[in-house]
Amino acid sequence: RSYKRQMICRRDIDSLNVPFLSIYQSLIPPEEEKVKQKQLLSLLEKLVIKEWPKARLYLYGSCANSFGVSKSDVDVCLAIEEAHMDKSKIILKLADILQSDNLQDVQALTHARVPIVKLMDPVTGISCDICINNLLAVVNTKLLWDYSRIDARLRQLAFIIKHWAKSRRVNETYHGTLSSYAYVLMCINFLQQRRPAILPCLQEMDTTYSVTVDDVDCAFFDQVEKLYDFGHHNKETIGQLVWGFFYYWAYCHDYTNAVISVRTGSIISKREKDWTRRIGNDRHLICIEDPFETSHDLGRVVDKHSIKVLREEFERAANIMQFDPNPCVKLFEPY
Ligand code: CTP
Ligand code: MG
Repeated sequence: RSYKRQMICRRDIDSLNVPFLSIYQSLIPPEEEKVKQKQLLSLLEKLVIKEWPKARLYLYGSCANSFGVSKSDVDVCLAIEEAHMDKSKIILKLADILQSDNLQDVQALTHARVPIVKLMDPVTGISCDICINNLLAVVNTKLLWDYSRIDARLRQLAFIIKHWAKSRRVNETYHGTLSSYAYVLMCINFLQQRRPAILPCLQEMDTTYSVTVDDVDCAFFDQVEKLYDFGHHNKETIGQLVWGFFYYWAYCHDYTNAVISVRTGSIISKREKDWTRRIGNDRHLICIEDPFETSHDLGRVVDKHSIKVLREEFERAANIMQFDPNPCVKLFEPY
């Protein structure tokens, strides 16, 4: 592997910029989809407020972090202070309220790891998951959204990587591969590591936004309009970055010792997090630290079989980027 580590990128890499950007463009949700999402949210708000006047609804996940492709499901969080009611009771009650309106396929999943109500809106055709009081997800959604506004290359890179991961079926946490959220954090950290850096570390800058959620202090710099030219010393193009991303995960990442940390804008060691051995079901075979819940390793779903699958896919992608005459086709070939 060491000779490959010095391998330089193919000479015609920039010929891939146009096809990558056109894939990116084709994945962006059209404006009318955003309008429909807002409509659905207002309808839900109207119904929820009737029962719980002080409750609030927040969008989170890919419909609000700017990394959602067209036709994604909508993730909604119901923030509610009902100390006397447990989550399953609220879920059942909520399903009941929504059922009585003309929403379709309302299901209460009270036994899921994160209990949710699932539904489909026949007017807009949008599917939606509603969870209860998962406010850390709302805050990490804002962090991702703020990062996406600093440099356009983040959103381009993340769309390409998510599209690759879905095509190659390595975006399935129930099969031991990584969540979309994990891939976006990998992209952010990758751009924080470029030299010159393309992204700053918002959590290491002056605090302009701060909330405490579930005893976790979430603080970061969110005046990102002041950072619009942060990455302009780095001229790397989308083709080079996609190549570099796969090359890093195929041949450079230290799977034995390293943890990807957006919180510090760097790569830290498993030793300092005590992630060097398997504890319970957490194997820590690929480590991605959650920016706020720092004891969460987003790679915890990865097991000894799926780590091989993932690494083979990173190597496949890196080799296609290096040698294939037509990488934009081969990269996304369905698994
Ligand atoms: N999330 C989280 N911790 C995780 C997984 C997810 O906090 N371990 C939250 C994040 O706020 C994330 C949201 O749940 O944005 C949705 O997660 P996911 O389905 O992985 O990402 P989406 O961005 O919704 O991607 P997709 O387009 O695939 O739906
Ligand atoms: Mg989602």
